[in-house]
Amino acid sequence: MRTQVGIIGCGPAGLFLAHLLHRVGIGCVIIESRGRQDVEQTIRAGVLEHWVVELIKELGLGARMMREAHVHDGITLQWNRERHHVDINGLTGGKRNIVYAQHEVLKDLIAGSLAHGGEIIFGVGGTTIRDVETDHPAIDFRRDETGALETIYCDYVVGADGFHGPGRQAIPVSIRTEFQKIYPFGWLGILTSAPRSWEEIIYANQGDGFALLSTRSPEMQRLYIQCNPSDDIANWPDARIWEQLQARLGTDDGWSLTEGPIVQKGIIPLRSFVCEPMQYGRLFLAGDAAHIVPPTGAKGLNLAVADVLVLSRALEAKYKRNSQDLLDRYSATCLRRVWKAERFSWYMTTMLHRNEHETDFEQRIHFADLDLVRTSEASARSLAENYVGLPFD
Ligand code: PHB
Repeated sequence: MRTQVGIIGCGPAGLFLAHLLHRVGIGCVIIESRGRQDVEQTIRAGVLEHWVVELIKELGLGARMMREAHVHDGITLQWNRERHHVDINGLTGGKRNIVYAQHEVLKDLIAGSLAHGGEIIFGVGGTTIRDVETDHPAIDFRRDETGALETIYCDYVVGADGFHGPGRQAIPVSIRTEFQKIYPFGWLGILTSAPRSWEEIIYANQGDGFALLSTRSPEMQRLYIQCNPSDDIANWPDARIWEQLQARLGTDDGWSLTEGPIVQKGIIPLRSFVCEPMQYGRLFLAGDAAHIVPPTGAKGLNLAVADVLVLSRALEAKYKRNSQDLLDRYSATCLRRVWKAERFSWYMTTMLHRNEHETDFEQRIHFADLDLVRTSEASARSLAENYVGLPFD
């Protein structure tokens, strides 16, 4: 099979890229190792930066999102059993993020892509990338475990295949530098069928650890609690989860967290990771294949979309005007934004978690950081600008 751009991975990076390329008449094929159902049901974070919301609308895919999503004017930070509203909207000249789960975004993107004849092959195995140093790269794969070997011949290969995919491995180790930080804590996330307890996302550091309250719909709430990353979920019966959430989100003003049946729960580790460069020959990495952020700033999906927006403009310049410059600068352009998002996600994570390897001195510094957001407009504005998504430079 032959196409212009061969995309590995049907997550946010691969799907947004397919839509952006379709919009400018560039052909592509997506292959994905998971089944469609699996892709559409994997639960991830759910915050879309304001410009991603606009992009989804521009692509004609925003109807369900605008009906179902929860628009947020700000966020709530909590420490010392007190809450502080950060007026993201007011501090950024009218920008707002929305809360709409990643898998709902993916459902809309997949349906939209298939509706305009886009090709997505789910459930493939044995994917290998070759000849990216030449002008005729290729991707080999099998439709299923036992299927015949097939090849996508293309002009460019995009590794949008996540942290564990073959994309990054196709950059020789001698070329690649990887930067990583593993945090000594993880998040236990739950979905509960309960009404909303608070109108905006709460990020809480009560001293004994982090908790986050978010929403999915008026009837379904998403909550997280700091835990040991290697803990077994069996150690967390529902009663213990609620007891810890009540303690970490509790205030002294009579507010209470509404509990409900827990319909899903799981533990994720927290890591920061960047691969430099994000390109090699005719191979370009996008999203988690190139960088991971801890979810505390909700930047993961947004960064993936930023990568492929840069890439789609570069590919358009190449195909329409035979201009190579933007493609050559793809990695450098993306990495400027990536490192700022890494910094912000690390800052939010460090400030909001209890790290047993840190001294009490460092813990006090984190509370001072939180209090600065309350008392200094410059500090609050900096947080707000990063939270809604920095401008593209
Ligand atoms: C979520 O709703 O899943 C969520 C919200 C904010 C975060 C992370 C996750 O920072």
